[in-house]
Amino acid sequence: MARFEGKVALIAGGARGIGEQTAVDFVHDGGRVVIGDVNDELGRKLAQRLGDAAVYAPLDVGDPESCARFVATGIERFGQVDALVNSAIRIRSGALLDLSLDDWNETLRIGLTGTFLATQAFGRALARQGRPGSVVNISSIGGRFPYSGSGAYSSVKGAIIRLTEQFALEWAHLGIRVNAVAPAHVETPLLVYLQDPEIKRTRNAVTPLGRVGQPADISAAILYLLGDDAAWVTATTIDIDGGLGKSIMNHLAGRKWD
Ligand SMILES: NC(=O)c1ccc[n+]([C@@H]2O[C@H](COP(=O)([O-])OP(=O)(O)OC[C@H]3O[C@@H](n4cnc5c(N)ncnc54)[C@H](O)[C@@H]3O)[C@@H](O)[C@H]2O)c1
Repeated sequence: MARFEGKVALIAGGARGIGEQTAVDFVHDGGRVVIGDVNDELGRKLAQRLGDAAVYAPLDVGDPESCARFVATGIERFGQVDALVNSAIRIRSGALLDLSLDDWNETLRIGLTGTFLATQAFGRALARQGRPGSVVNISSIGGRFPYSGSGAYSSVKGAIIRLTEQFALEWAHLGIRVNAVAPAHVETPLLVYLQDPEIKRTRNAVTPLGRVGQPADISAAILYLLGDDAAWVTATTIDIDGGLGKSIMNHLAGRKWD
C-alpha cells in the first residue's frame, strides 16, 4: 500500500518551490492534497496537473479566516485532514539598521504569524473531530544562524523552531505531532541568485555534500516527518543542509594536522 493512501495533506504555500514538490510527492505516494497559496494562477495549474487528488484553495496565511477556510476546504472536498505543511514565505530583506517597520512586519506576518494561524486552524479542526495528525513547519539554516541582511527572516526562522516545540508539547496528548525541517540553500524560485552559474558553483563547493539542495531533498524529509515512520517523533527540527551548518571549521585557513 502507498504510504499516504487515505491521507489528506494541507500544503500552505504549496503553489511553487518546496511546497509544490511536497504536494507532488505526497500525491505520488497515494495521498490527496489541498494546495493553499496567494498565487492563484500557479496554485490552480498545479492542482489541475495533480487531477482528482488535489484541490486549490486561495489562502493568505496571515489571515485567520482564510486559514479556517483552507482547512474547511480539505474537510469539504476530501472528508478529513491529516497533515499540514507550512511552506509559505515572503522575504522583505534589508539590514536591520535601515529596515522599515513595514518590511519587518510583513516577513513576520507571513513567516511566523502565518505558521501559527495555519497550525492553529488545523489543530482546532482535528481537536473538534478527535483525530490525530501531523504538522511540518519550515525553519531554515537562517534560523540556526543569523543571516545578515535578511531583515526579519532569521528571527522568524529561529522563532519557528520554538513555536514548533511549543505546539508539539501542547498537542502531544491529542495525538498531533509537530516538527520542522531547517533547509540550507535549495534551488527554488525564492533563491533566484542560484540561477547565476558562478554563485551556484561556489555554493556547491562550500557544501560538504558537494551541491546545493533540490526541493525533493527537503520534501523527502517532510514526508518522513508526516508519515507513520515518525510516529514517535515530535518537537524536533531536522537540519537538511548537505552538512553546511556544521562546516565552519572547513573554511578556516591554517589547519596544521593535514
Ligand atoms: N529555498 C531555500 O533555499 C530555503 C532554505 C531554507 C528555508 N526555506 C523555507 O522553505 C519554505 C518554502 O520556500 P521556497 O524556497 O519553496 O519559497 P517559494 O517562494 O518558492 O514558495 C513560497 C510560496 O509561499 C507562497 N506565499 C507567499 N505569501 C503567502 C501567503 N500570505 N499565504 C499563502 N502563501 C503565500 C508563495 O506564493 C509561494 O508559492 C519557506 O518557508 C522558506 O523560508 C527555503
